[in-house]
Amino acid sequence: MEADSDIKTTPRGFQCGLCNVNLPNQSSVDQHVKGRKHQTLRTVRSTRKTQERHSVFVSGITPLVSQSDVTEYFTQFGPVSDVVMDKDKGVYAIVQFAETESLQATLSRVEHQMGGLKLRVKPREKKDFKLIPKKNASQNLQQALERLKPPLCQLVSVNAQVQYVVERFQLGENEKKARGLLVQLLQEVFVEFFPDSQIQPFGSSVNTFGVHSCDLDLFLDLDNTKVFQAQAKSTAEQAGEGTSDDGRSEDSILSDIDLTSASAAEVLDLVAAILRRCVPSAHKVTVVGGARLPVVKFHHHQLNLQGDITINNRLAVRNTRFLQLCSGMDERLRPLVFTIRHWAKQKQLAGNPSGAGPLLNNYALTLLVVFFLQRCEPPVLPTVDRLRDMACEEEECVIDGWNCTFPSQPIAVPPSRNTQDLSTLLFGFFTFYAKFDFAGSVISLRQGRALPITDFLSQEQPEGEKPTKLHGPKLGPLSLLDPFDLSHNVAGNLNERSQRGFQRECQEADKYCRSLQYQRKSTKGKSWGLVRLFTPRGDVPQSPAEQLTISIPFKPASLPEALRDRLRAAGGGFRLPWFREVCCAVEGVLKGVLGCHLAPSADAAWGAESFVDAETSPGSLNASMNDSCDSVGSQGEGAGAAVAGAKRPLSSSSDAGESPEGKKPRLSKRRKPEPPHWICVQKHAVWAGRRRVRRELVKDSDSRPEGSCVALETKVTARIAEKEPELGGPLEVKVQPQVIGGTESTKAVLTLEPISDEAGVFHDFFHFLEAFLPKMVETFLEKDASDL
Ligand code: UTP
Repeated sequence: MEADSDIKTTPRGFQCGLCNVNLPNQSSVDQHVKGRKHQTLRTVRSTRKTQERHSVFVSGITPLVSQSDVTEYFTQFGPVSDVVMDKDKGVYAIVQFAETESLQATLSRVEHQMGGLKLRVKPREKKDFKLIPKKNASQNLQQALERLKPPLCQLVSVNAQVQYVVERFQLGENEKKARGLLVQLLQEVFVEFFPDSQIQPFGSSVNTFGVHSCDLDLFLDLDNTKVFQAQAKSTAEQAGEGTSDDGRSEDSILSDIDLTSASAAEVLDLVAAILRRCVPSAHKVTVVGGARLPVVKFHHHQLNLQGDITINNRLAVRNTRFLQLCSGMDERLRPLVFTIRHWAKQKQLAGNPSGAGPLLNNYALTLLVVFFLQRCEPPVLPTVDRLRDMACEEEECVIDGWNCTFPSQPIAVPPSRNTQDLSTLLFGFFTFYAKFDFAGSVISLRQGRALPITDFLSQEQPEGEKPTKLHGPKLGPLSLLDPFDLSHNVAGNLNERSQRGFQRECQEADKYCRSLQYQRKSTKGKSWGLVRLFTPRGDVPQSPAEQLTISIPFKPASLPEALRDRLRAAGGGFRLPWFREVCCAVEGVLKGVLGCHLAPSADAAWGAESFVDAETSPGSLNASMNDSCDSVGSQGEGAGAAVAGAKRPLSSSSDAGESPEGKKPRLSKRRKPEPPHWICVQKHAVWAGRRRVRRELVKDSDSRPEGSCVALETKVTARIAEKEPELGGPLEVKVQPQVIGGTESTKAVLTLEPISDEAGVFHDFFHFLEAFLPKMVETFLEKDASDL
């Protein structure tokens, strides 16, 4: 391959100066330069260079000058292909010509006069093209801390600091008023187009946890409009087309759309059009249709706030009332939420500005605080089930099939007997989640307890509510059930990394809260109390090993009933039997589906000692395996059993059990044995062109394989192996499986390491497996082997 001038060698491998990334070896360089990011940046760079060579910088214009004035003036020097003006201030423009000769002609003119204005025309500055790094989040966070530090350090106690955080960040009265006026305006506008509709704010603007410039979440309730429309329609039918009893639907937007049958996206398109046309200062109006709840986003220029309008979100209005009630029940909740939200923001754990992605959203974080307060001894807040019992008949409320009953006033709830102060509760929050078994539990605010995952799956649905089994929540590394919509895991967007990050930061905070620095004001003017808690998290570098691992998460909901029963019977030791099944499935995919030759490593220790050795090996995976095996051990199965678990699927192709089971080897006298693994040999590029071959096979009905996708994928491999030449040399890869659990979410992790890769295809193989293997293993696990 032709050398790429952006790639430079470094003592640790290579670096791409264009994309600003480090690359460990030649094959990753080859991959990188072919990749989309590198190719796009090259194109952007060459376009910019061309633009630079063809354009001039013009200053001396005024906001009254239009783009066409500028184009007209400069056309005398040659065809103008583009004019970019700074819209806000209107003092400069960049004029781009179609030909370089025009540039010379423009620059050689000594004086430029345009409609009485004297213009200054300069060549463009030649700037090196650089990828502009995203706004440095940690710098911003550091600045936020610097601003907060002096006032916080002056206060006398952590309790006072927590109260200060509320005062510093809470929505001011004027901000609340301005929001109220905007809501009123929107109500007036929408009711014109959607008669009897109602706009209701929810979320942080009104749930008592709002901070300066937080989003304005709005629910446009169209239920009454639907009734109105149905009535108007029937009246129109009776009276003849196009008329209605009060004339309101004629010519209205409602004549274009049937609200009962229209999709959310269609209605939101209308909402967006109304916002654009009729709401002054509403800018950047966009419909985001793909989200769980489709939404229209807009920016209110004058108030400088982000607004979100949804139309199917009655539950959110109700859970906002619930949070308001919680705030009213105990005055410690609000300052705790403010402090924990700020901590989480500084640690980059929550509050994704874009609202998506793998971070906790603020709602989820608030629920974690509420849950912790339910778990305090004695509880600070009651469970949602208890609140339901305290409500009177008129307060009964069911939304979308979910029981959302609770008292409307805090006065109906007896005060808590818990007298802990804010500083102690904050410390308690960190301790609680530092040790929390996220992997094995589902958090239920309804019941105010963490349900073991296996119990949760076998639990009966609450009486009179939706069957959660059918519409079950998407369980994940952090399973936090919505207090009302039990089919929704509010932290379902988290990945393992972000869940681990959250727990790690809780552990750090817990450790810090034990120190005097947290508890006592520094007499030497040093940072103390909350200040150190708010220190931004440093960027955690990814270890190279992490890049070459494939995770297969534990997804109990998709396992067959029989296997789930077996795992349930294993109680806390469920990881081991599950891991055995995963290893069988991995072997099945590699050998059966992908036609790899699998061999045991000659020096792998397949007996108990391999497990013992794993405990002493460095590296996070081994350490994690140690975690999981601890938990296995605690269920009464020793290390021998653990190895049997890891060994069983491997043993089909290995001569297992050289060492006596159960005996602890004397490591000092033995050669260090390797943990169990496969050596996987592949002679064909079975990953290349798979999609096309699959399509061909599916199209060709005669050869379409009967049965599941496993059969089809096996056939795809066979077709590639038959038609394509062998690789330049066989690819030999060591694949080491391990199970992780304990305080992390349960998963099997496969570490892949190339042993021989003459054809330089290891990365292709790895990237293919990264997506293919977990899905295929899931398919294997979902079905009985006989179905495959
Ligand atoms: P946010 O997570 O934005 O919370 O959810 P927030 O309190 O408004 O915080 P900001 O806006 O980040 O400052 C907004 C509202 O959306 C509903 C809740 O009513 C929440 O208050 N919501 C959010 C849900 O009902 N379920 C979810 O999973 C998330």
